[in-house]
Amino acid sequence: MPIFWRPQFRIGHDDIDADHRYLILLINTVELVLRFPDDPRNVELALTELRRYAEDHFEREERIQIAYGYLHLDQHKLEHRALLAELDILVQRIHATLEDSDGGVEGVKAQSGEITAFLRKWLVDHVMKSDMQLVPLFRKSVVR
Ligand SMILES: [Fe+2]
Repeated sequence: MPIFWRPQFRIGHDDIDADHRYLILLINTVELVLRFPDDPRNVELALTELRRYAEDHFEREERIQIAYGYLHLDQHKLEHRALLAELDILVQRIHATLEDSDGGVEGVKAQSGEITAFLRKWLVDHVMKSDMQLVPLFRKSVVR
């Protein structure tokens, strides 16, 4: 079941909100290629794009936090690093399954429910708990 954008995901900064929408789209793409893995290269492509975009997004979000003088930047950065590390572990696990003679595309398909549940939680928990703390910053600040 894909994730759909909800108004309560909105942080109030256009670039951050647009990034979150795109990350949702990428997670839905990963779900699609895991559930219907006709070609392992599609799984690789979707995961590579999610990993690349997650890193770009976290850097962009941190630059915005600096520009707005966010006081808890260090803690937020640590959380971003931890999220990337979790993603790396997941990507390695999927690669290992694809390469395993007992795994392959059927192996990743068997894990697709668990993997996509993890990714949905991975993104939504961070947005709803940590990024949501940025909302007052964008409400009261003058846009720079
Ligand atoms: Fe964040």
